[in-house]
Amino acid sequence: MIPKSEIRNPKSEFPNNMAKIIGTGSVIPELVVTNEAFADKVFYDKNGAKLERQGAEAAAKLESITGIRERRYVPFDQDSRPLMTHAARIAINDAGLDPESIDGIIVAHNAGNMLIGEREFHTVPNMAAYLKNELAIGNHRCFAYDVLFACPGWIQGVIQAHQAIAAGDADNILVVGIEIASRLLDPHDLDSMILADGCGAAVLGRSDNGAGVLSHATFSHAQKDIANIYLGKSNNPALGGNCWFKMNGKEVYRYATTWVPKVVCDALKRAGVAPEDVDLFLFHQANEKLVQAIASHLADSWELDADFFAGKLPMTIQFLGNTSVATIPTMLDLIRKEDLDGYSIESGQTAVFASVGAGMHCNALVHRF
Ligand SMILES: CC(C)(COP(=O)(O)OP(=O)(O)OC[C@H]1O[C@@H](n2cnc3c(N)ncnc32)[C@H](O)[C@@H]1OP(=O)(O)O)[C@@H](O)C(=O)NCCC(=O)NCCS
Repeated sequence: MIPKSEIRNPKSEFPNNMAKIIGTGSVIPELVVTNEAFADKVFYDKNGAKLERQGAEAAAKLESITGIRERRYVPFDQDSRPLMTHAARIAINDAGLDPESIDGIIVAHNAGNMLIGEREFHTVPNMAAYLKNELAIGNHRCFAYDVLFACPGWIQGVIQAHQAIAAGDADNILVVGIEIASRLLDPHDLDSMILADGCGAAVLGRSDNGAGVLSHATFSHAQKDIANIYLGKSNNPALGGNCWFKMNGKEVYRYATTWVPKVVCDALKRAGVAPEDVDLFLFHQANEKLVQAIASHLADSWELDADFFAGKLPMTIQFLGNTSVATIPTMLDLIRKEDLDGYSIESGQTAVFASVGAGMHCNALVHRF
């Protein structure tokens, strides 16, 4: 781990024509799915054997090991576009812009446009093209592309928006994270109770006051860790399909507690920002205990008390579940709108965003508001 002394003195590596978040938006899907909703589910292990603990008992176990009480799903009679367009419009309005002044659209997702009434999805045309169409943006110079990078996709989109703005290629870029994971979930897999649906968005604009993206870091481990999360067959041999979400939870937990602290430290070092100067840590929400474990690893490496994170580590996992790439932008929007447990972010304050997911990939970004 990087010694604390090194964090204080390094010169900042980044140009000062920066990008900053000037607007956010999110939509919490309407269907509330409590743990009771799994009471009639029949769970199998990965070898197709029926598990001893079933239904409500299994859901109670899930709550005890992850903190998840409920999650949200998009109604089955909707595809991904209404959620995406609504969150994007809120972010553009919040930035005080009109759609025509958007120079670029980046949409991060894992399964394209989830089809109405089906468990199938289309990735052509791409989601950003759909969004540009829905926003009726006529300016052909407004690029519209997608990012496939699992849960860390939205942060990676913000990094790319920062780079495009810093390079002078754009002034305002919309970055959206959308996930309708509910239709990828194997009803016979315990992990089907973890993931959920959501969408969050942000507009990045050119910064002229030193506020904005101070630094970022991205790691990809695609050797032995590539098998940790994938799409595959159902645990119930009788159920068809080969596109169900599958995860080796323990290995993901081990990867996340090892590498997320490292990528956060790398980004802080690059920004020349000390942990004590960070006001909020927005970490990917996959499991309440996992977020706390990452925080305590960091506190140890910084030789700080565990309560260092008190009041700095907002959570949404308990009532939104793991919404994958939508998690961080949704949490940020709730905080900016002071709609999450009394958290807020003021001008001049600094936040660290960090995420981890299939690949395995993890990334972190330091942003001064
Ligand atoms: C998935 C996860 C919650 C499983 O917890 P775990 O403590 O590693 O689980 P284990 O496999 O050791 O099982 C512990 C107990 O929990 C139960 N369990 C495991 N996963 C469960 C689930 N999803 N729902 C309900 N019970 C579960 C097991 O049956 C076992 O019960 P037992 O103690 O009676 O035998 C945990 O590994 C995790 O959060 N991993 C990270 C996931 C993640 O980060 N995903 C993000 C990338 S998208």
